[in-house]
This record gives sequence, C-alpha cells and structure tokens, in this order.
Amino acid sequence: MSRTFFVGGNWKMNGSLDSSKQLIETLKSANLDSNTEVVVAPPALHLLLVKELLGNHQVKVSAQNAYHKPSGAFTGEVSVSMLKDAQIPWVILGHSERRTLFGEADENVAEKTQAALAEGLGVIACVGETLQQRESNETVNVVVRQLDAIADKVKDWTKVVVAYEPVWAIGTGKVATAEQAQEVHAAIRKWAGDKLGQDAAAKLRIIYGGSVAAKNCKELAGQPDIDGFLVGGASLKPEFVDIVNARL
Ligand code: G3P
Repeated sequence: MSRTFFVGGNWKMNGSLDSSKQLIETLKSANLDSNTEVVVAPPALHLLLVKELLGNHQVKVSAQNAYHKPSGAFTGEVSVSMLKDAQIPWVILGHSERRTLFGEADENVAEKTQAALAEGLGVIACVGETLQQRESNETVNVVVRQLDAIADKVKDWTKVVVAYEPVWAIGTGKVATAEQAQEVHAAIRKWAGDKLGQDAAAKLRIIYGGSVAAKNCKELAGQPDIDGFLVGGASLKPEFVDIVNARL
C-alpha cells in the first residue's frame, strides 16, 4: 500500500508578518516533490496572510490548534467552525505543548478531533510519550491510550494523519533513531489494524516529529511505517525543503 508522503511545518509561536512572507516566498520558489503533501502551520494571527500568499500552491495551510465549540464565551480561542469559514483545510490537535503547557487531556483532544472532522477539516493528531514514560517502558501504552481516546469519538480516520512526537525529542536535538521511531510507528499501525480495520490501517499516514532535520530525514523516511514528518524548528529554515524532498 503506497501512502502519500506528508510533511507538516509547525511554526509554533514564531515569526512576524514579514518573516512569514519570506518563508512562503522561499517555499514557492523551491522545487518540491510533487508526490509529497505539504502543510505549514503559522500562528493563528498569520493564518489568513499565509493562506493568501500560498494561493493555489501545492503547499497548504494548517492551524496549530482550535476549540471544539463553534462560538461563545471562550476568550482567546479560535473555533473549528471559524477555520472552516476561513477555508483553512488542516488543524494540528493534541500537540504535546498543548497537553503539557495548556492542560489538554486525551478527552479534550478527542472532542476537538471529532468537531474538526465534522467541519470537514483534516486533522494532524499528535501523540507521544515523555522521557520518564519511555524509560519506564510505557511508550506504547501511552500512545495507545491517547489514540483510543480519539477512536472512542472518531470512527472515520480517512482525514486524520497521526503524528508520533516523542516529547523528549521535541526541540531538543535528540531525534529518535530510525529504529526507535519505526518501532512505535509499527505499534500504531498495529493498533489501527486492530481498532479501525486493516484497510484503514494501511491507508493511515503516521508521521514522525521531534528534531527532524535535513541530516536525519532520509534515514527516517526510509522506514516502512514512517509516512512523513511534523517539523518544528527546521520548518522555519530553508532546510525544510530538503525534508519535504526526503524521498527524492
Ligand atoms: O510539531 C512538531 C514539533 O513538535 C517538533 O519540533 O523543533 O523538534 O522539530 P522540533
């Protein structure tokens, strides 16, 4: 089963109007693998500018988060309905920084995923363990727990991309080895087969995030169950193009 390679650039809380324009111009002028699906996720304030600059380019835009209710007294939040209204096609949900810094529980991520899919958005659903959980051999249990919570609410995963992001590799430069990443991706693929069915599992894109860079992306991309990347720091640099082209 060939799955379309998927690379997301999570800009996190970085950049300015001007630097966003420069990043997009770099991407628009680059030779990108036409077989790779690419999204970039700017801060919410810059979403519409980046979407407008991209136009009908291969690269699409994603939000970094969203709230599940359509409207109401939720100061500071942006709803999945608003993303739909603004024709933002993707949203990252359950990023470990949302979970650890902003207290998002598995159930919150599941609720958001259900609401985003109901609005027709694509969802990059993030899972991953902490260093302590890995050192306690809890990695697969944690990832399965996080995925089960979403599967309790979501039955159709055709517009879900799962991002496995070991928390201990995010922003640290300590990228998981290809073997470490493949082991967890294979466990996620097995979970999907058992929970969603073999056809859904074969089609599910499972991407890796955590210190992905031009120097390590090719070895990771060569793993059978790694279908792409969710890139943080390197997505703000020209080397993001090399990561998009990891399979060339
Ligand atoms: O969402 C991707 C991000 O968490 C990975 O960050 O800087 O380790 O590539 P980074």
